[in-house]
Amino acid sequence: MKIIIDTTENVAKRAAQLYVDLLSRNPQAVLGGATGSTPIPLYKELIKLNKEGVISFKDAKSFNLDEYVGLEGTHDQSYRYFMNDNLFNHIDIKMENTHVPSGIDISEPEKYDAEIQAAGGIDMQLLGIGVDGHIGFNEPGTPWDSLTHVVELEQNTREVNARFFNSIDEVPTHAVTMGIKTVMNARSIILIATGSSKAEIVKKFIEGPVTTEVPASILQLHPFVTVFLDHEAAALLEKQA
Ligand code: GLP
Repeated sequence: MKIIIDTTENVAKRAAQLYVDLLSRNPQAVLGGATGSTPIPLYKELIKLNKEGVISFKDAKSFNLDEYVGLEGTHDQSYRYFMNDNLFNHIDIKMENTHVPSGIDISEPEKYDAEIQAAGGIDMQLLGIGVDGHIGFNEPGTPWDSLTHVVELEQNTREVNARFFNSIDEVPTHAVTMGIKTVMNARSIILIATGSSKAEIVKKFIEGPVTTEVPASILQLHPFVTVFLDHEAAALLEKQA
């Protein structure tokens, strides 16, 4: 794993540079998207670079990590809505080339993996991390060989995400998420973690053992992972890059 520690602002800029590099090498790249508050500064940077003509998404495709079960894409807390609102509506990607798992038709979630494969596989998957180490919505205990599947959300995850809803009762109890194997199949991975609330889990997933109890720890075994941390999130690391 390559670890990059910088200011919160520079983290977004430096991560955006990886998109510039990838899309100039391969304009048809397949991008793996993530939601949450962490990627917002990166998305703002990508929108800016797109408007400036530095980067184009017109031939790119995207596959998002996850979606809440039961929320239509028009619901303002659905991850489809989030992606349209924070990125897709503001860049030149073709909407039909953007994919978010359906939270409504959850009958055959692993079909999503087949769609990813048919598109040639993900070139660069973006990840955030939950305070319990989840990536996508792969909570502790998720098997390493999991493909896209439906999960029951941990109470803690629902509490953390309740800030976006009117009350915790409105937070869905289930989600559909790419599995750990789906994520590990990506040719390269970027994980961004910012803020002091992530410091403990950052230390665990980077310096601790590879264990299903810390889903993000599996990334230690992937050959092309870049972890971007701000100083707050990196504070507890033994080795400061
Ligand atoms: C959610 C998402 C994850 C995300 C995590 C952290 O649960 N499913 O993909 O990484 O929250 O969110 P944040 O970036 O807001 O801390």
